[in-house]
Amino acid sequence: MNINPHHKYHQNNISKTVDRFRQDILLDLGSNPKKLSSKYFYDKIGDELFQKIMNMESYYLTNCELDIFKTKTAQIADFIRPNNEPFDLIELGAGDAMKSSYLLQYLVDQGATFSFMPIDISGNILSVLKNKLNDSIPNLEIICLKGEYFEMIDQATTLSSRRKVVLFLGSNIGNMEYEQALQFCSELKDKLSAGDYLLIGFDLKKHPKTILQAYDDRTGITASFNLNLLKRINQELDADFDISQFEHYQTYDPSTGACRSYLISLINQQVTIGEYQIPFYENEAIFMEISQKFSPEDIHDLARESGFVTVTELYDTKKWFMDAIWKVS
Ligand code: TRP
Repeated sequence: MNINPHHKYHQNNISKTVDRFRQDILLDLGSNPKKLSSKYFYDKIGDELFQKIMNMESYYLTNCELDIFKTKTAQIADFIRPNNEPFDLIELGAGDAMKSSYLLQYLVDQGATFSFMPIDISGNILSVLKNKLNDSIPNLEIICLKGEYFEMIDQATTLSSRRKVVLFLGSNIGNMEYEQALQFCSELKDKLSAGDYLLIGFDLKKHPKTILQAYDDRTGITASFNLNLLKRINQELDADFDISQFEHYQTYDPSTGACRSYLISLINQQVTIGEYQIPFYENEAIFMEISQKFSPEDIHDLARESGFVTVTELYDTKKWFMDAIWKVS
């Protein structure tokens, strides 16, 4: 028997994570209409596929936001750091921190006193991030927080009482329905203090074909990214999805700005997950994810309704993407 308390704690944590994953999946596939939560896309292969998506020509979002971070670095730094007070820079869903690394480098060069606290649900991508940043910006203090956004923000607040600047990039806010996004921003605001900042990225409404192509690439990378969640369920939850009997289907509605992805069951089939049987009928859809697109007015509404004050709005050269800087007053 292993009586090392640390070992036991670790084991408990792992089984808790698996339990939550199993519960969410069973609940979502048991509901009508069926859905799956995109936060579970990111196992090791999911991380790799997502890196590939970000490198695709048709997936314009990364390049647009990178354009902002590369060409407006000093401006961003001046806005989020109006005085020389020490602060914590918290990034929600940091991934490999490719975009934020330009800001981090600039802040270190300026001699700013701050810690970088990347939060991500994938422990794998956090170790990639840490190795990369340790090499490229050796003087940067990094505290990785693996877990759900709000739980990890609470942890960050326990670790340090410094002023906070939160980065939420990649239009990840668009992966929530509007009501949920509003709820999220309000809750985030409540967790922050007067004088704290949020830098939040939004993909803007543009020609519908441009948007659809970004999420429906011909090479099938986005399709594999969605289907990979079924593979992950097979591996981690003892399930038997036949991946070849599901197909990725993408929609974009230009009047609402909602870009939605689905997996369609190609036949009538039963899937076993552990001791459960889940029936799928032919052409039944599993809703996978929304990537909401915004107008500047949508963004102003969100800021106002959640109680933030807009400090500035930065666009890329094409005006396809916006990074807004909001303040807690
Ligand atoms: N939030 C980004 C977006 O909506 C990244 C992203 C999340 C994504 N899930 C995705 C991109 C699925 C492509 C496919 O675009």
